[in-house]
Parts: sequence; C-alpha cells; structure tokens
Amino acid sequence: MSEKDKVYIFDTTMRDGEQSPGASMSVEEKIQISRVFDEMGIDIIEAGFPITSPGDFEAVSAISKGLKNSVPCGLARAKKKDIDACYESLKHAKRFRIHTFISTSPVHMKHKLNMTDEQVIDAVKESVTYAKKFTDDVEWSCEDGTRTTLDFMCKTIELAIKCGATTINIPDTVGYSIPEEFAKTITHIRNNVPNIDKAIISAHCHNDLGLAVANALAGLSAGVRQIECTINGIGERAGNAALEEVVMAIKTRNDLMPFDTGIKTELISKASKMVANATGFPVQFNKAIVGKNAFAHESGIHQDGMLKNRETYEIMSPESVGVKKTSLVMGKHSGRHAFKDKLSDLGYSDVTDDVIQEAFGKFKVLADKKKHIYDEDIIALVDDSLIVDNKINAINLKSLKVYAGTGEPQRAEMTLDVFGEIKKTAQTGDGPVDAIFKCIKELYPHDVKLSLYQVHAVTEGTDAQATVSVKIEENDRTTVGQSADTDTLVASAKAYLNALNKMLIKREKKSLSENIEHQKVKEGV
Ligand code: KIV
Ligand code: ZN
Repeated sequence: MSEKDKVYIFDTTMRDGEQSPGASMSVEEKIQISRVFDEMGIDIIEAGFPITSPGDFEAVSAISKGLKNSVPCGLARAKKKDIDACYESLKHAKRFRIHTFISTSPVHMKHKLNMTDEQVIDAVKESVTYAKKFTDDVEWSCEDGTRTTLDFMCKTIELAIKCGATTINIPDTVGYSIPEEFAKTITHIRNNVPNIDKAIISAHCHNDLGLAVANALAGLSAGVRQIECTINGIGERAGNAALEEVVMAIKTRNDLMPFDTGIKTELISKASKMVANATGFPVQFNKAIVGKNAFAHESGIHQDGMLKNRETYEIMSPESVGVKKTSLVMGKHSGRHAFKDKLSDLGYSDVTDDVIQEAFGKFKVLADKKKHIYDEDIIALVDDSLIVDNKINAINLKSLKVYAGTGEPQRAEMTLDVFGEIKKTAQTGDGPVDAIFKCIKELYPHDVKLSLYQVHAVTEGTDAQATVSVKIEENDRTTVGQSADTDTLVASAKAYLNALNKMLIKREKKSLSENIEHQKVKEGV
C-alpha cells in the first residue's frame, strides 16, 4: 500500500443497486459481476439482503464462496433473524462482514418504525452485539442519518462502536444533504463521539439532488475513509454515488484528494457494461466516465485540439477506464488462436473453452456477413455466448422468417425447440417484433408483461450488430434477456427467449422454496 490514506470502496450494486425498480439480476449474472469486482480490487462487496428472498440468500452465499480478495457482506435489519440469515449465507467465506442498520431520524422512528429513542437504542445494542458473535467485521448504519439530530446520532454511534461495530456508515438515505453540510456532519461526529477512532467512517449517499458523488467526496475531506457506491450509479430512486465517478475523481484530482482506492480502473468499463446488460438499465450517453460519449470529441475545435495534444480536452485517458479505441480487429481469415488472444486483450481471459468455441463459431458467421468487425462486435458475441453457457435454454430458436414492409400485415414464421419438442407456427402482428413475440406465445403459452424492449447498435453502420434487451414481468418476478445479431429481428426473438428461459428457472426455484417452506410448516420447524 502507498503512503497515502486508503479509502475503502464498498460496492452495493447487487444490494442497493438491485433495489431500483426493475433492476433485478440473476444469481448467475451476480456471480459473473462479482468476479470482475473482485479482480478490480473492490474492498467490500455487499452481495445482497439475505433475509428478503431465497434468490438474495443464494446470491450472497454463492458470491461469498468465490471471492479471492474482496470481503463479502450481507445486509440485515436490527433483527436476529436477519442477522442469522446473513451469517448462514456468508459462513463459508474466509472473512465476511455483517452490515446491520436501523433508522435514527425522527420521521423514520415515528412513522416507519413506530419506536421511541430508547427502543431504537436498545435495538442498536442488541443487533450489533448479536452480529459481533458471528464476525469481527460488523458495520452499523444509522438509516436516514442526514435527517437525524446530531446528538442522537452521536449517542447511537458511540453505542454501536462500544458493542463492536468497526465501520460506522452515515447514509444520506433520501439524497437530501449538500456537500458542505455532509462534511460538517462528519466533522461533528469526529469531534463528539469519544470512541470514533475505533471505527472507520463510511459515506452512503443517494442521488436525489444529483449530489451523491459530491457529498461522498466532501465526506472524504472531513474524515470519511469508506465510500459506498454502485456501478453506473444505480440504486433506489435516483440511485447511489457512482463508483466509477468516485474512483476516477480521486484518481484524477489526487492533487486535492491524496487518497488511494487501490481500484484497477481499467476494468471500470467492463464492469459498467456487465451491470447494464444484466439489469437492462442502459447507461445514458453523456454519463460521466462510462457513457458512450464520455470520451468522444465531436466539434471541429475540440478535434483539432485533441490532435495537437490530448491534454487540451482530456482530463483522463479512455484507456485508464478500459475504453479501447474502436479498432478494426479481425476478418474472416482470422483463426481460433488469434480470436482467443483477442478475447484475452478485451479482458475475457477466464472464459471457458466452450464459450470460446461458441463465440468463435458466431464470429465466423458474422465475418461472412459483415465487412468490418470491431472489438465491440466481439464483446457482444462473447456476452451472448456467456448467456448460452449458463445452460438455461429450455426453449431455443430453430428458425425464423419474417415478412415486413408496407401494405401487408407483418408476418413471422417460427420453429422452436420447446423442451426437446420441435414446434412451428406462423403469426401476424402489429409490426414484425409483435408477430415474433406472438409466435413465441403461441408455441409456449405463457402470461407475462413485457416491460422493456430496447435495441441498440453495437457499432456504427447499417451492417452493425444489434443488441436487443427484453424485460418481462410475472407477479413479483422480473427477468432481463439479451441477444446480439446483425439481424435485429433474430436478436429480438433470442432476447425474448432468453428472458423467458430465465423466468422458467425463477419459477422453478420459487416453487422449490415454497415446497421447502411448506414442508417446514408441516414438520413444525
Ligand atoms: O440508503 C440507506 O440508508 C441504505 C442503508 C441500508 C444503508 O441503503
Ligand atoms: Zn441506500
């Protein structure tokens, strides 16, 4: 470690991030994302809120078993059963953190908890003491901290540290604070909590006023040494402080913020894409650091300056966050070996041979259709093959013909392999995509709500591959499917099937966990 003060990066993409409406990720997707986080050097990964669902429990458990360096963490309310669920899901990890919280603001205590100051104080004491039985690494949060009276906050923090908390997190739960005020709060805590030197102070800022990153960084100057954040800034409502912005601000303005996060920033772009793909939440074009335009220079004056010296308009290099210049990489004569080397250059060094084989096959087909193949094309192919590698395809597309254009109603003819049985149909619809989705519904009758259909071109040009994302909902379950192809309609069919296959798995898991619950009730457990 360098001489500079360490700032711990606590990622909550898979917990607070997943709390944004519609941003659910499958367990497999979370595992893949956590591997990249681990490699990136994220210190603590809050992998979920284990008590809330069997899916969260399973994700925390699976992720915690696979991490090499990052410390896995689970969230718990100030309740024994939540803390037990955290422990049960984390216990296989070498080290782990339990993060427990309770609201301390007058408005939350009165209307949400219906608890008095004394009851909240008792709950802090009980929950932190109980969590400490399972691990030395306990984090305590005063939810709605920035609307809590300072005296009460200091009292609860002192108690939490006395009971064993080693990290004290100050959430700006509703994104209400402004930088100067947030910094003052931290200074007040440092000056008024006698045992504060025994804990690390953490900032957890929401973005309702667009100030999450600014508040977290203001906290740093006042003594915060852990920042809680999410990739792409996803999270409840307007989101959380964006990890990529926090880390790159510290790196770029290290003259004013002389701290070290230890993050391998070159993996930021990859992590951003993985999270966007898994959640189906696109990254806005002008998003700082990871937006498509973050390093694009359009105007003549800017381009001219850039050609003379990059520093004229560039405060950090695209390479420093893993954005490679779009390069023409390979053609139809490139072999498997070169393809594998290329994948490793693009950061896919740990994919299985099956995935490489599958992606290579698709690359050859693409190379026959498309004149120029770019890095982004190859990334889309591997991501597509990774989805296939998850072995979740019970329903597969065998063939598709679509008749579109003016005059005629649009018509699709489709053949599907449905659990091993070959089925065919033809349907018309309001547009070709509607006709395709009707075919799928006809061949595998099901009732889900389509809540998102989104197409984006992977590269420039009319022969570009399209990545299609589809989100479907059924009761309280949501799944996102994705696929890339030069034919947007084929990608649409495959993306829908991908979402549907994931939904079938979720249904299976739900009925399995319901059976277990039912059995427990019967057995009186
Ligand atoms: O925003 C918040 O207050 C939280 C806590 C659980 C830390 O997410
Ligand atoms: Zn939060």
